[in-house]
Amino acid sequence: NKKKKKPIRVYMDGCFDMMHYGHCNALRQARALGDQLVVGVVSDAEIIANKGPPVTPLHERMIMVNAVKWVDEVISDAPYAITEEFMKKLFDEYNIDYIIHGDDPCVLPDGTDAYALAKKAGRYKQIKRTEGVSSTDIVGRMLLCTRERSISDSHNHSSLQRQFSHGNSQKFEAGGSGTGTRVSHFLPTSRRIVQFSNGKGPGDDARIVYIDGAFDLFHAGHVEILRLARTLGDFLLVGIHNDQIVSAKRGAHRPIMNLHERSLSVLACRYVDEVIIGAPWEISKDMVSMQLNLFFVLVFPSVQ
Ligand code: CTP
Repeated sequence: NKKKKKPIRVYMDGCFDMMHYGHCNALRQARALGDQLVVGVVSDAEIIANKGPPVTPLHERMIMVNAVKWVDEVISDAPYAITEEFMKKLFDEYNIDYIIHGDDPCVLPDGTDAYALAKKAGRYKQIKRTEGVSSTDIVGRMLLCTRERSISDSHNHSSLQRQFSHGNSQKFEAGGSGTGTRVSHFLPTSRRIVQFSNGKGPGDDARIVYIDGAFDLFHAGHVEILRLARTLGDFLLVGIHNDQIVSAKRGAHRPIMNLHERSLSVLACRYVDEVIIGAPWEISKDMVSMQLNLFFVLVFPSVQ
């Protein structure tokens, strides 16, 4: 007479501003520490009070977090720091077993640890922060690319720069020619790609839907188009153009995220079954015959 074991429910919170594959990797690791992952998305007001205004508003951040395939439930308007009251709510109402955060220190404006209470209660677990990507780094790449485009127009990016400099303005200033954040520090290992993959091909009679694009700076519009594309068949295959094609079509300053970074963001999306890392610009006869069941090819010329 086996009793069904209660699922372990874990909670991770965050701002998830300008969502990137580092955030997705944090959610992936958090989900692996339990059976169900509940994510708290911090409200705009709380972010403003603790670290300055977010670039993406709450409703967009909610769309992005909800689209990640490792997420089971999302709470909007979560507090920035886990208070006694909110922790009780997590335990009693949401049945949370563990509260999880990356291994970077998370200090409040008053210098205290945002997770001190959870640690004290013995309900805190840590995951490894992903190297080589952060919102600050992405903004740095964007600033450098606007600079490359129009060196004379130096006031253009001042408000973005103010929001993200956090005392790091030298990092952005120093970047001009090759030393800056424009260069990605991400190392695409096969293990990371496997971790993000579904590992399942299409079934025998599956209707495969194909859509391609750059998917640079993966955002809520991309999520929506992928969701719609997936409803047209049984298996969604996404072709991601390589950096050379994107540069040739959109200008030398693009893409901001390189091919492998863009592939991880797309792979983390729950509507996506598989990606082609470096898809051709034109869909060739070969490609169609290779994918025998290609049922529907979507052409959205403006999927950037
Ligand atoms: N995180 C991570 N790796 C990164 C960036 C974030 O593992 N490269 C994790 C954080 O540790 C946190 C969660 O993602 O547990 C949500 O992050 P967020 O609150 O948005 O934190 P930031 O550290 O501010 O992320 P970023 O600097 O990229 O904005």
